[in-house]
Amino acid sequence: MVLGQTILVTGGAGYVGSHVCKSLAAEGFSPVAVDCLSRGHESAVKWGPLERVDLTDEARLKAVIEQYRPVGVMHLADLCDVGESVTDPARYYHNNLVGSLNLLKGMLDQGIESIIFSSSCAIYGVPGKVPIPETQAKVPITPYGVSKLVVEHMLRDFGMAYGIGYVCLRYFNAAGADPDGQIGEGHRPETHVIPLAIAAALGERSRFEIFGTDYATPDGTAVRDYVHVSDLAAAHVSALRYLLEGGRSVALNLGTGRGHSVRQIVAAVARLSGRAVPVKEGPRRTGDPSTLVADASEAFKVLAWTPKHGCLDDIVATALNWHRKPLFGDRSR
Ligand SMILES: NC(=O)c1ccc[n+]([C@@H]2O[C@H](COP(=O)([O-])OP(=O)(O)OC[C@H]3O[C@@H](n4cnc5c(N)ncnc54)[C@H](O)[C@@H]3O)[C@@H](O)[C@H]2O)c1
Repeated sequence: MVLGQTILVTGGAGYVGSHVCKSLAAEGFSPVAVDCLSRGHESAVKWGPLERVDLTDEARLKAVIEQYRPVGVMHLADLCDVGESVTDPARYYHNNLVGSLNLLKGMLDQGIESIIFSSSCAIYGVPGKVPIPETQAKVPITPYGVSKLVVEHMLRDFGMAYGIGYVCLRYFNAAGADPDGQIGEGHRPETHVIPLAIAAALGERSRFEIFGTDYATPDGTAVRDYVHVSDLAAAHVSALRYLLEGGRSVALNLGTGRGHSVRQIVAAVARLSGRAVPVKEGPRRTGDPSTLVADASEAFKVLAWTPKHGCLDDIVATALNWHRKPLFGDRSR
């Protein structure tokens, strides 16, 4: 590896993207965050410049790629509120598909051959088998999931036609925060279970709502595979190295292989914060599968990647530590 190689990180002001920038910098790369700040935070960009560009603006994006000539691209910029994608699919398809296509065209123009793409377990829809291997049928049930699958197909086609190399990282539930407390989760609006449960515990929300208590799971609530955001970031760096060293294009699940129920999250937040989490139980949401747990054995094999923050308490403790910090800059919850 050559020290200081430039990597473009789309969505670098977002939750996962900012952690990816931190890991890249720690490994000697020079990250450039490309983000329109529609959902991200300027204050989360700490390890390189921020180019405030919307990926749907083809000309501006092209100019930024020409300016930096990165050796590789990490593509995390996306609208990713699953529920919102159902109510406003036009916005989601435009943002996620046009933005991705412009990025790939910009890469072709500059001869950039390596891209790591943030895909999602949402491409599997309601899984037939759990833990879910990469070979599972892909039948997404939301426009968000469809947009991820379409970009995976775009990458396959660009790979075959133009030789672009890619790694699609299919994350399960990103969770936790930087163990040093420098960055953390702050979606706008927040829809993720752990920050919502923490906000209810700390009195920032009146209660935490559980959607569905009659699933066929041990305690009746939905089970998900929570993977620490710093472990996801480390997987991005490993995937980049893998591609730069000539690895073949591949799609990999990223998860811990262990599931936790919503009630287990609530219990962990209450225990670690020392505060009760006021809960309201409601009906299931349409399209929420009962259990999503990764079979991540391929990522273990191909990238030699294993999550370091495997236990739920570690994930919740880092999230809590971040959440308790005083608000600063443009961070909002
Ligand atoms: N958080 C999760 O649990 C999870 C799970 C699976 C996949 N993913 C994927 O990981 C990626 C990052 O997710 P996140 O949780 O960090 O979300 P986030 O909203 O915090 O980050 C996304 C960033 O992309 C930026 N962005 C969106 N559209 C853009 C555009 N057209 N041009 C430029 N910037 C744009 C936003 O401003 C934001 O900073 C997304 O692609 C998401 O679909 C996330």
